Amino acid sequence: MIKAIRGTRDLLPPETVLWNFVEAAARDVFRQYNFQEIRTPIFEATELFARGVGEDTDIVSKEMYTFEDRTRADSDKGQSLTLRPENTAGVVRAYIEHNLGERGLNKLFYIGPQFRRERPQKGRYRQFYQIGAEVIGPPTAGSESPARDAEILEMLAVLLDRLGVANWTLLLNSVGCFDDRQRYNQALRKALEPVIGQMCEDCQRRAATNPLRVFDCKVPEDQPIIDKLPRISQYLDEPCREHFAEVQAILMAVGVPFVLNDRLVRGLDYYTRTAFEFTHGALGAQNAILGGGRYDGLSEALGGPKAPGIGFAIGEDRLVLSLQESADAVVKKPDAYVAPLGAGMNRPAAGLARELRQHDLIIELGDESFRLKKSLETATKVGARFAIIVGENEIASGVFPLKDQTSGEQVKVQRADLAARIQAAR
Ligand code: HAM
Repeated sequence: MIKAIRGTRDLLPPETVLWNFVEAAARDVFRQYNFQEIRTPIFEATELFARGVGEDTDIVSKEMYTFEDRTRADSDKGQSLTLRPENTAGVVRAYIEHNLGERGLNKLFYIGPQFRRERPQKGRYRQFYQIGAEVIGPPTAGSESPARDAEILEMLAVLLDRLGVANWTLLLNSVGCFDDRQRYNQALRKALEPVIGQMCEDCQRRAATNPLRVFDCKVPEDQPIIDKLPRISQYLDEPCREHFAEVQAILMAVGVPFVLNDRLVRGLDYYTRTAFEFTHGALGAQNAILGGGRYDGLSEALGGPKAPGIGFAIGEDRLVLSLQESADAVVKKPDAYVAPLGAGMNRPAAGLARELRQHDLIIELGDESFRLKKSLETATKVGARFAIIVGENEIASGVFPLKDQTSGEQVKVQRADLAARIQAAR
């Protein structure tokens, strides 16, 4: 038997109803904050991620699905391609490629699959879905302003509340600018020197190439050592400190609660200044429901103009997991089951179903080969609120038995009154 590849999965109904519900709510909230959709390709040049996300990150060094293009055209023969592990680099590439800076501030959102070769477990997959957004533009369009950071965070709080995600926590930090990081990396190297021999192999590599990445370490024995390392918060320069203070002040003014956490450095190299995650208690080890932050130097790192930006990506799989208990509430069941009774009745039943659907009702349609008992059983099985019998007599008289599947009560209703009767019970 051919099965779905490890770490990938089929999303089946009724769970897909929840996915649609989440995406519809996100689109609705994005619209209110004036975001518009962008769709970028699922695969990009490997170099984009190496330069954007960073060679020393776990994502680029271990987790990418990379392959050589086998096309015969000489121009792109053997080019190294990668299934996107995240979408910020792709959006910034598109920003540069299409000169989107000419439009001023760009507020863009995306919904789609991402790919990382991680060890699969609950809430962690190799093909997973992100709902993300990016605000990016030239500095003259206000893209650097702490108001943008606060607006994004406030929007996320609104979205999670609207979805009914209870008990989220916003973890907030500033990872400073390029200069702060230079000084901080120096301090980190110094602090790591005497202890690095006791740390895991990955950390030994990180200490040499990119010491900030030591904070991504998950090895339990290393944690007490990491806890004692200097924190980035002690190395922020005055403008970065002021920027971060203003983000916090706006959040307090609009009533979005947050928790400062100066161990939060995020696993991607492009971050500057504000970095954040929203966590959710019920998710266990994979408790980060979304993450994001500022990336003021990313466009330039990819050869583009100065274009500060900030964004986030929600792990849609994890968001849906956190909502699963309330799944029943959003699955809409059919309003009625139309049951054709006897040979030749499929045709008039199809006509009646069409008529009722025009009144925005959800209609399930049976088959004339079913006996009455089987039709009613099927109506129950699909959770229809009503069953409508369509036989020769009903078509001739224009009066239909309407059976309330909850109470068992059956009444005769004129064809023209059926839709209103069903709607009244909604
Ligand atoms: P990230 O933290 O790597 O950030 O991913 C964002 C979210 O995607 C995570 O918080 C998690 O919910 C979800 N996620 C990541 N990996 C997996 C996985 N293997 N299985 C299931 N869910 C996963 C980014 O990707 C950045 N591009 C976010 C961003 C946008 N920063 C600025 N703009």
